[in-house]
Amino acid sequence: MTTIAVLGAGEVGRQLARAFVSLGYDVVVANSRGPATLTGLVHELGPRARAASVSEAAAAGDLAVLAFPYRPDHEHPAAELAGKVVLDTNNYMAWRDGHFPDVDSGVVTVHELRQRQLPASKVAKAFTHVQAPRLFGLSRPAGAPDRRALVASSDHPEAVAVTRLYDEIGFDTVDNSPLSESWRSSPGTPMWEHHVFGQDRDLLVRNLARA
Ligand SMILES: NC(=O)c1ccc[n+]([C@@H]2O[C@H](COP(=O)([O-])OP(=O)(O)OC[C@H]3O[C@@H](n4cnc5c(N)ncnc54)[C@H](OP(=O)(O)O)[C@@H]3O)[C@@H](O)[C@H]2O)c1
Repeated sequence: MTTIAVLGAGEVGRQLARAFVSLGYDVVVANSRGPATLTGLVHELGPRARAASVSEAAAAGDLAVLAFPYRPDHEHPAAELAGKVVLDTNNYMAWRDGHFPDVDSGVVTVHELRQRQLPASKVAKAFTHVQAPRLFGLSRPAGAPDRRALVASSDHPEAVAVTRLYDEIGFDTVDNSPLSESWRSSPGTPMWEHHVFGQDRDLLVRNLARA
């Protein structure tokens, strides 16, 4: 049994926690305000879920999801996440997060910056271009003609492999590694035109190449 730490309990964190619990994973959720603010969510998720502080959740997880925007001044529980796969759901949105000049100029991707914050972890960009409320509605069983695909990018092959979670939830995986290539699935790129209703593997691969 795998325990997944879901750090960030907003739209994305909550929906992913629901998905993971429905697949039979144990989930430990955390937000910035503390576990007492997550009582309702834990009640909804049921006995496979509990809430904890960020560092406690990070320590409990066999893998972790970061479901909050990147900030240069973030202090992550790096020791608790060392050696673990960390799925980063963040999209760089300058209107929300402010401008990062090196990201704007293409020197570095925002996911490489997150990897630098967690140097001993295996960061993968994942779950970034499916709108949280549509996660269940867009999922399809393997082999369905209208099955959509989601991107994963990482500098660590084992982190991309963890996106077998995509398959379990109901999506194909397109590997767009390494993290330096992850700009190809950023808001505003050709693939992003389909982020509301999704796209199949072939179209996603073509759109990544067009970016
Ligand atoms: N919304 C979508 O459909 C969607 C889809 C794909 C990707 N994304 C990306 O996924 C990320 C999350 O989006 P969202 O819409 O879920 O955001 P959101 O609704 O604003 O939720 C953010 C959550 O992260 C928590 N948080 C903030 N800083 C934290 C920290 N340092 N440690 C632990 N928890 C922290 C917040 O806790 P408090 O409430 O206690 O402050 C809140 O629970 C964003 O980067 C977004 O670009 C969003």
